[in-house]
Amino acid sequence: MRVTVFTLFPEFFESPLATSLLGKAIRAGLMDIRRIDFRDYASDKHRTVDDTPYGGGPGMVLKPDPIVGAFEANPPLVGGARIYLTPWGRPLDQEIVKKYAQLPEIQLLCGRYEGVDERVVEGWIDESVSLGDFVLAGGEVAALAVIEAVSRFIPGVLGEPASLGEESFSKGLLEGPQYTRPPEFRGLAVPEVLLSGNHADIENWRRQQSLQRTATMRPDLLKKNGG
Ligand code: ADE
Repeated sequence: MRVTVFTLFPEFFESPLATSLLGKAIRAGLMDIRRIDFRDYASDKHRTVDDTPYGGGPGMVLKPDPIVGAFEANPPLVGGARIYLTPWGRPLDQEIVKKYAQLPEIQLLCGRYEGVDERVVEGWIDESVSLGDFVLAGGEVAALAVIEAVSRFIPGVLGEPASLGEESFSKGLLEGPQYTRPPEFRGLAVPEVLLSGNHADIENWRRQQSLQRTATMRPDLLKKNGG
């Protein structure tokens, strides 16, 4: 799969894209990640990318022409989607991630400052996505989150594909607690059932824990999934 990131800070991505599973996936050719600095598409000699907002107000707005110039020079593959990372977007979840993982390409536009001129969104963006109800300095961290989450659905990136996993959200619930050796640590014991070797009991216990944790931490998920 191909990912194209439009950003003013291409160097921001260097270490995360070279590290761990993502680095391995890229080196193996499972993902092709391109970074485009849309400042390269600014038309004036100062390479200006922002300007003051019409109507007044604090901060600067990203001008449309460098961004659209960068889009036009780097069209998405047929069937690809162009996504804008912004705090006002639809909250990212595992369903959206799974959908993106099935596309030939996603293009990710990273905003900065007070965001991009709205005409960019109207004319050139398919979906606007947020990482959550907080404000980052720009879309770069959010773009990295999308890339890493999507990569886990690409065949060959994980030992076991994420879609088949027992992990949080794979069944609309949070994953319950996990333990490893030793069986007792500083007076805290691993739940007896996990040491029992009884797979039906273990599965039952895990399901209960998963439901309990979801009810406590994310009751909204139980409602959403008809629980
Ligand atoms: N850019 C700034 N804040 C953001 C957020 N919460 N999600 C996505 N992109 C952002």
